[in-house]
Amino acid sequence: MSEITRNLLEETQDYVEQARARTARARKPWQVWLDAEWGFRNYWYPAALSRHLNEGDAKGIELLGEEILLTRQNGKLHAMEDRCPHRGIRFSARPLFYTKETLTCWYHTWTYDLEDGNLRTILSSPDSKMIGKCSIKIYPVEERKGIIFIFVGDIEPPPLHYDLAPGLLDDNAVVYCGEPYEINANWRLGCENGYDPGHQFIHNWSEMCINAGMHTSYGYTSTREAVLDTTRYVENEDGPKGFTRKVEKTEFKHEAFIPLKDGGRKDLVLPLARGKSPEELAQLTDIIRLGTVGLWMPCSLKVTTFPAPQCTHYEFYVPKNKDVHIYFQFGVIHTDDEDEAERWLGEDGRVMWEVPAVEGFTVDDAFAREQLHKYYAEEDGWQRERLFQPDVELTMWRRFASRHARGIQTVDHTRGYFKRD
Ligand code: FES
Ligand code: FE2
Repeated sequence: MSEITRNLLEETQDYVEQARARTARARKPWQVWLDAEWGFRNYWYPAALSRHLNEGDAKGIELLGEEILLTRQNGKLHAMEDRCPHRGIRFSARPLFYTKETLTCWYHTWTYDLEDGNLRTILSSPDSKMIGKCSIKIYPVEERKGIIFIFVGDIEPPPLHYDLAPGLLDDNAVVYCGEPYEINANWRLGCENGYDPGHQFIHNWSEMCINAGMHTSYGYTSTREAVLDTTRYVENEDGPKGFTRKVEKTEFKHEAFIPLKDGGRKDLVLPLARGKSPEELAQLTDIIRLGTVGLWMPCSLKVTTFPAPQCTHYEFYVPKNKDVHIYFQFGVIHTDDEDEAERWLGEDGRVMWEVPAVEGFTVDDAFAREQLHKYYAEEDGWQRERLFQPDVELTMWRRFASRHARGIQTVDHTRGYFKRD
């Protein structure tokens, strides 16, 4: 059993058990998580899909509240601050690339070098004293597996794979990229919903489960011993940091009851579990038990054997700003067989991953996150929430993330107060 797991469980379990007795304003053991409403700074994030940015295209995006112009010129990607130092115009409103190596502001013609961001000339005033004296921030950018990643921060970027759930960039990983979309919820609610052991109930509404006759449960329940036994932490300096729960020791409840005032009880059975024998129920839960669910810094989730045994599902909850995150999802198989890879990027990935997982399952997660947002963003939910035992796994993550975060994004960063090299 891992010492880290034991420590995290002990540090956070007490909090959960005593939560009711505490005042609403108690300082939490995961304060860094609470402070990170705009995201964790100094990380790589998925920013766009390669297929959405052809040669010569330019696209204004927002990451952690920072406005960025992304473009492909001469086959090379460039990401730069979308804010002209002269009077703050957003270049993306009317991107002007008179050459493949410069960006010209459409307002007063200040013209910047795409490589280093320096003001190279001003079309109307080529002798201006400003030339060479100011610059826009250039962001590190990398493109792998059809995904464009941008580093948001001020430090020397670590290798890209440190900031992703493991396996996504493996040489033989074949990555089917789902269409990213915006969710009106803070990014931390994405992380927590994805990992939440108690949330499985919402998937009884999921089309994938209904179509497959796949009962889920009223929510995972695990004993303290099971959590200690099946949770594995990774916190090496030279790689991704995160943790993984093996589902194998989790209990699934398909039946429940509500006690009635008269001393009786109302028995309930999940609709999709009705009429099934104990063996049939066990068969399906055995399949779910094969999987693992892992949450990785800063904001990705990896689910193995989902929705099919050979497939690994990856998702990212990328902060766009404090009220919206961008939901990136990837269906991955690992294979060296070129035909299989080609099929996966076409019909197989569509039929075996995108339709069931993206269109028929995680839409219910997206719905739930938006429903959480009002309480957490506007009604002090981070202070007022009343946790119960299964939430200990969420508080373990909050503590873990608080310990390892490289930095916190602030409102000042979103306004352009950051290091410009
Ligand atoms: Fe960009 Fe004036 S605002 S050149
Ligand atoms: Fe879910």
